[in-house]
Amino acid sequence: MSTTGLGFSGEVADYYAKFRPGYPPLVIDALVQRLGLTSGHRVLDLGCGTGQLAVPLSKHVERVLAVDPEPDMLARAPRLPNVEWRIGSDADVPSLGRFDAVVVGQALHWMDHERLFREADTAKFAIIANGTPLWRQHPAIRKVLEEWFGRPMTAGCGTDAVARQRYATALQAAGYTPHEWTVGYTHEHTIEELAGSLFSAMSPETLPSPQDRPLFREELRKALCADTYTEPITVTVISTP
Ligand SMILES: C[S@@+](CC[C@H](N)C(=O)[O-])C[C@H]1O[C@@H](n2cnc3c(N)ncnc32)[C@H](O)[C@@H]1O
Repeated sequence: MSTTGLGFSGEVADYYAKFRPGYPPLVIDALVQRLGLTSGHRVLDLGCGTGQLAVPLSKHVERVLAVDPEPDMLARAPRLPNVEWRIGSDADVPSLGRFDAVVVGQALHWMDHERLFREADTAKFAIIANGTPLWRQHPAIRKVLEEWFGRPMTAGCGTDAVARQRYATALQAAGYTPHEWTVGYTHEHTIEELAGSLFSAMSPETLPSPQDRPLFREELRKALCADTYTEPITVTVISTP
């Protein structure tokens, strides 16, 4: 059972840490350059998960404060000398102090983004979508999930154009000038990795039982008619500047 009610606890956190593609150097380098980050800077990674952004960014800056409400996600993040992992949420931002930049990877849809943009003490934001959910990419993957769960799979998790426009408008209302830019890459999953990535997007309550997981993988393999899936990922960033 999830302790926060968000669904990222227990085995889901294990799957997130092991199978969620992070951000390749191409993306991190573009982000560092765009935000003008240097070794003297202090960055807040809000909704940090198991450290997909905080870890690579920590090599470029003085300090990262990585905040997430789910203790199980933080427990699976690697310990690093200049990253502080702290339990918290967007509601805590006013008490966290000043940052040279605030980054949010794949997590803004869980937050009150208008309040965050108004209240954060920072000159720079980057809102990052790591591609689109797997069920929106490939009809065969969507079909497997829809048949497994018996309901349509539509969630965009803040990655779609409508959500991005909402975020840009809210940034503008808070006095920032947002720019949207993209970086593309591909990520090849084995079927085990693809299933693991899908499990990382479920909740502990909806995860297939351990006995059913081989069947779920087999359904994916049959639907894709392949032992691998090459995911075309377009990382979309809304940043100021
Ligand atoms: C999909 S994960 C993203 C992890 C990582 N940033 C990434 O880019 O892969 C979303 C994370 O947001 C966290 N989260 C949910 N609600 C939040 C909130 N109100 N404030 C901060 N983080 C939140 C979840 O616990 C989860 O770890």
